[in-house]
Amino acid sequence: MTFTATRGAYDAFMGRYADRLAPLLIAFAGVQQGERVLDVGCGPGSLTEALGKVVGPEHVAAVEPSEPFAAAAAERVPAAEVQVGAAESLPWAADTFDVALAQLVVNFMSEADAGVAEMRRVVHPGGTVAACTWDYSGGMTMLRTFWDAALSLDPDTPDEARTMRYNDPDVLRELWLRAGLEAVENDVLVVEVAYTSFDDYWEPFTGGVGPAGAYTASLEPDRRGALREECRRRLGNPDGPFTLSATAWAVKGRA
Ligand SMILES: C[S@@+](CC[C@H](N)C(=O)[O-])C[C@H]1O[C@@H](n2cnc3c(N)ncnc32)[C@H](O)[C@@H]1O
Repeated sequence: MTFTATRGAYDAFMGRYADRLAPLLIAFAGVQQGERVLDVGCGPGSLTEALGKVVGPEHVAAVEPSEPFAAAAAERVPAAEVQVGAAESLPWAADTFDVALAQLVVNFMSEADAGVAEMRRVVHPGGTVAACTWDYSGGMTMLRTFWDAALSLDPDTPDEARTMRYNDPDVLRELWLRAGLEAVENDVLVVEVAYTSFDDYWEPFTGGVGPAGAYTASLEPDRRGALREECRRRLGNPDGPFTLSATAWAVKGRA
């Protein structure tokens, strides 16, 4: 898992999606002005920044295991409290927050049950725990196109639809119920991202970010070139700008 990239590499690949997703997750979670909120697995700070605009940056805390990402989030939202750490062992006392959120993170946690239990612990009774993960099997077009292209060239490809857990609304709901959260609700969040060209789509895969970036980096140049061309073909050989949509499964519950 490579989340040691620069903010620039992350933004080109996933940050442009995360920036658009964050307001939708915030609205779904019902975050209100002035609430004290926690961003778990904040990465370089897309959700951290968006939360700060709603509640005030001094009311935002964030935690992230990757040191370069935590540093990027701290630089992006200087008034927020950003700590290096993991969801499974959150460095805050019980009942500290009104809302804890994890955007595109639950599927990366080594112990998701422990991570969600920790999110519940640090939220006061009646507060909200919310998260979302990509629909890796279908609606996340940028990644689905990549993995379908890779699978067509090598059936043993580690497609994230297969390797990622919690990439299904029912499984997310069960995770929330196991953590003892109440009034659990699901939703579907959809964002659109505009690309200026096919290169604007392809180049970010070569930045080594996340499983798709790690897979691209593992390929010999000729295999990488074949994958690039197969992605281009599957996107309809675009010779100008195009837009891709991405679907995320969201879940929330009351502590
Ligand atoms: C796809 S990124 C999402 C980052 C950010 N939330 C966003 O929306 O851009 C996944 C993040 O989860 C972090 N992560 C991985 N394991 C984690 C864990 N056990 N606890 C908290 N964060 C974790 C990674 O370091 C990475 O920053």
